[in-house]
Amino acid sequence: MEVVIVPDAAAGGELIATAIADLLTRKPDALLGVATGSTPLPIYTALAAKVRSGAVDAARARICQLDEYVGLPAGHPESYRSVVLREVVEPLGLGESSFLGPDGNAADITAACEAYDQALADTGGVDLQLLGIGTDGHIGFNEPCSSLASRTRIKTLTEQTRIDNARFFDDDIDRVPHHVITQGIGTILDARHLVLLATGAGKAEAVAATVEGPVSALVPASALQLHRHATVVVDEAAAAHLKLADYFRATYAAKPHWQGL
Ligand code: F6R
Repeated sequence: MEVVIVPDAAAGGELIATAIADLLTRKPDALLGVATGSTPLPIYTALAAKVRSGAVDAARARICQLDEYVGLPAGHPESYRSVVLREVVEPLGLGESSFLGPDGNAADITAACEAYDQALADTGGVDLQLLGIGTDGHIGFNEPCSSLASRTRIKTLTEQTRIDNARFFDDDIDRVPHHVITQGIGTILDARHLVLLATGAGKAEAVAATVEGPVSALVPASALQLHRHATVVVDEAAAAHLKLADYFRATYAAKPHWQGL
């Protein structure tokens, strides 16, 4: 696992957007797995700017969703399908045909989850999966004690995650759905490159447990330790509890430029 400490969220967004641009240059039809929430927004802003300036051509990129609320009405502005279309697909100049996501309104949720896992496999797999992290260490919506081998399935959000996400629902926790569809941890680990961005002091404890703690279902993000190409990008505030912060800084400072992320 590589840990990169950046000064702030904007620097993290720029660094990761550059890695995505490099990927799209090498593989124009790469499948990019995207996360929602606040953290990845600087990545999407920086990537869209690169597309607008002509620094990268994203016309053949494909985008897939990490997770989705169950039961929000189709077109609800906070459904993750709506968020990904608004924040990623449209700014990159792509259309819905470039986009893949699970159906949070399916009559048969179990079948929809299996179909999504199969659809991801049929595309040839995710090239780069962006991840945020919950204050409780979740990735996607794999809450603590999710199986590290799990596949896409329905999960129940913890009270803490519903409190954290109430800001997207007019600060009304009662409007935050209890259930979600999420790529499983095993599904996430199938991606070729995992890139987790964490910013702000509220993520410092979860980041330290992820990077320096034991691999444990109690901290789902710690499963990244099992992946052979996992990059964790953190700002100074989110790095505050890392014992090896100086080592991570020195390693990145000495990294050969050609390696990229
Ligand atoms: C959302 C997702 C979640 C978020 C996490 C952090 O697609 O996968 O794991 O990344 O809840 O959310 P923010 O970035 O809003 O703190």
